[in-house]
Amino acid sequence: MKTVTLHDKTFLLLLRAADIDRAIAGMAERMNRELRDARPLFLVILNGAFMFASDLIKQITVPGTQISFVKVASYSGTRSSGEVRELIGLNEDLAGRTVVILEDIIDTGRSMAHLLDHLRGKHPDRLLVATLFHKPAAAECHIPVDYCGFPLGNDFIVGRGLDYDGLGRNLPDLYVLNPTV
Ligand code: IMP
Ligand code: MG
Repeated sequence: MKTVTLHDKTFLLLLRAADIDRAIAGMAERMNRELRDARPLFLVILNGAFMFASDLIKQITVPGTQISFVKVASYSGTRSSGEVRELIGLNEDLAGRTVVILEDIIDTGRSMAHLLDHLRGKHPDRLLVATLFHKPAAAECHIPVDYCGFPLGNDFIVGRGLDYDGLGRNLPDLYVLNPTV
C-alpha cells in the first residue's frame, strides 16, 4: 500500500491521479455542454483549489470564459461570532454573470455558506458550486453542489492541492490519514 508521511502523520493512498483526472475531464465535459452560452466567470478559491482549477479550466472550451482568483482570509474579529471572513482579490463585477465557484473540498460547508452569502450580495445571475471533493456526512450547512468530483467519508485527506499543515499540496494522488496510526 502506497503511503506518504507528512510531519508526524502517515497517509494512505485513496485515489490515484488518473482517476481524479478522469473525474475532472467528465466535469469539464458537462460544463462545456451546460454552460455553452453562459460566458462563465470561474472563481478559484485559493489556495487549495489551484490544482483542480488548472486541471479543469484547460479543458473548458466555452466562449467568453473568464477566470478570477480569490482568497478567503479568516481572522478573529471583535464581533461575538468570533470569526470574520474577508474575500480578497475579487475585482470583477458579478452582476448578471454566471459565476462558477471552484473549491477543493466542502467539509462542514461553513466556508462555502459564508462565501455564497457574500457573493449573492453582488447579484450574479447564477451562482454555481463546483468542488473536487465533498464530505456530505460532515455537512453543518446545506450547500447546493452543482458539480462534484468525488463524495468522500469524513477522514482527513491530503494531496491534489489539499494540505496538512502546509505539506502535501503538490501530491498528484489523494491520500487519507491512516486511522490505525
Ligand atoms: P469547511 O468550511 O468545513 O467546509 O472546510 C473548508 C476548508 O477546510 C477547505 O476549503 C479546506 O481548506 C479545509 N479542509 C476541510 N477538510 C479537509 C481535509 O480533509 N484535508 C485538508 N483540508 C481540509
Ligand atoms: Mg479551501
